[in-house]
Amino acid sequence: MIEKLKDFIDEVQQFTADTKEKAEELRLKFLSRKGILNEIFAEFKNVAPTEKREYGQRINALKQLVEKKINEAQEKFEEQASKPNDLDITLPGPNYSLGSHHPITNVLNEIIEIFSRLGFTVAEGQEIEDDYHNFTALNFAPEHPARDMQDTFFIETNPDILLRTHTSGGQVRVMEKQKPPIRVLVPGRVFRNEAVSARSHCIFHQVEGLYVDKNVSFADLKQTLMYFAKEFYGEKTEIRLRPSYFPFTEPSAEMDVSCSICGGKGCGICKNTGWLEVLGCGMVHPNVLRNCGIDPEVYSGFAFGMGIERTAMLRYGVTDIRMFFENDMKFLSRFKL
Ligand code: DAH
Repeated sequence: MIEKLKDFIDEVQQFTADTKEKAEELRLKFLSRKGILNEIFAEFKNVAPTEKREYGQRINALKQLVEKKINEAQEKFEEQASKPNDLDITLPGPNYSLGSHHPITNVLNEIIEIFSRLGFTVAEGQEIEDDYHNFTALNFAPEHPARDMQDTFFIETNPDILLRTHTSGGQVRVMEKQKPPIRVLVPGRVFRNEAVSARSHCIFHQVEGLYVDKNVSFADLKQTLMYFAKEFYGEKTEIRLRPSYFPFTEPSAEMDVSCSICGGKGCGICKNTGWLEVLGCGMVHPNVLRNCGIDPEVYSGFAFGMGIERTAMLRYGVTDIRMFFENDMKFLSRFKL
């Protein structure tokens, strides 16, 4: 008998009521009407008189122990219920590091935004182009040495298909579909079979501009580019147009802007000339208009094209064009807006 009581005491001592259900189970098992304690009390009369005293003491100890365990558990549950919730929903959330646009995207978006104020919309050309749209329609005669100005990646099995060497083919695709007035930008990736170095890459981006309407003149071209230069490079910027040659424009020019780094005084970036070459431009050649079904006797137009990497290098002071293609997080995170 006494041994049995000792076992019950051990059992209760090891018991931990970590849930309300467990505490209730303990109560039912020992303290309820049909519980163990009542059973033990009923046995009391059968206990030998010499053991009655110890038996009685142990019953009391067991009862107190059970009550203590249940009280402790109840106190614990009440305390937990009255504690304020640890979750403070007014605290600011964790700071997730957001990604950012690539510097090339930033510069391109800025260029598009400036020209959109002048009514230019955006069209897409295609990266895999045919010889006709990349060269022939743009007045590059077959075997014309100007084709060598741009080292081309041809598709080996079909020399008529190539990776576009400039976005100018986009002009042709727009004029084939649309009648003047046309004011459009064609941004995109271009490819040239050139050795990769700090100054040039075999993949880069350009944005092409085209304006075709009645009575479009070189003065319109100059004014449009001056507006762009001042908006993009700063109010004090001056421009300079130097005669140049492109098969698809006549006359053709290259535009320089006064160096935004030294203000035109001369520095390392502008190689002490005070000027930076930023784009090619000109009046759309009558042959190009004709190739696209636009009558050059009625309409005239201007076009321009600029490299985005070069523009971004000048804007951000980047000296190695390869950085734009390396996906170096340290480099890219500098351009978070
Ligand atoms: N396509 C020329 C190039 O890649 C850039 C260019 C020059 C575009 C003159 C034009 C232009 O539209 O009128 O070097």
